[in-house]
Amino acid sequence: MGRDVIIACDFASGEETLAFLDRFTGKKPFVKIGMELFYAEGPQIVRQIKARGHKIFLDLKLHDIPNTVKKAMAVLSHLDVDMCNLHAAGTKAMMEAALEGLTRPDGTRPLLIAVTQLTSTDEQRMKDELLISASLPETVMHYAENAKAAGLDGVVCSPLEAAIVKERCGKEFVTVTPGVRFADSAKDDQSRITTPEKAREIGSDYIVVGRPITQAEDPVAAYERCLKGFVG
Ligand code: C5P
Repeated sequence: MGRDVIIACDFASGEETLAFLDRFTGKKPFVKIGMELFYAEGPQIVRQIKARGHKIFLDLKLHDIPNTVKKAMAVLSHLDVDMCNLHAAGTKAMMEAALEGLTRPDGTRPLLIAVTQLTSTDEQRMKDELLISASLPETVMHYAENAKAAGLDGVVCSPLEAAIVKERCGKEFVTVTPGVRFADSAKDDQSRITTPEKAREIGSDYIVVGRPITQAEDPVAAYERCLKGFVG
């Protein structure tokens, strides 16, 4: 598995997304399609982007009873994406069912990655509202270990957590890390951030980069800068 930069295509329409991708003449960046675009355009936007030759991370964060997730993953497996995800909070049974559903008759499947605790959930809310009394880092690591035990390929985590996840779950366990910014650019609403160079040093496998590329004056140059810093 090679390191790569995944562009978060957080656009409201297929038209906008395809116009953005048109700028990358001759290049086929790995792209992330999230709920907003998927719910607006349906599965056809995934097929369209795939047909253009891009790798796709379908970020739909499934979380339901095991049987429902298994069946939904079986449907998603036909879309031929390269990576998809779910919430580790759905339990090991749900994650195992998801893997089963995602695996095609020939044994192939996309990478399956777990979301541990969303970065929007802080420790206080976790304690007060979810009644989870362990610390936030402990919860994140425990969920990562559950994902590993269920047979998943890795987790979404902060780049600053990637090294510890690798220590606990093995270096082959994939870390997908958002929250990446150039040293000289705006943080937007991200707080625990790092640069592409630092993410590489810490050991992320994939960085997910949105606004520093999508909102750049020259998105292709910003993407190249990320690649250079992260992949070398
Ligand atoms: O624009 P920006 O680089 O902040 O985009 C990061 C992407 O990663 C967004 O699509 C965001 O939803 C996603 N993400 C995140 N933090 C997480 C999980 C996902 O920023 N913990």
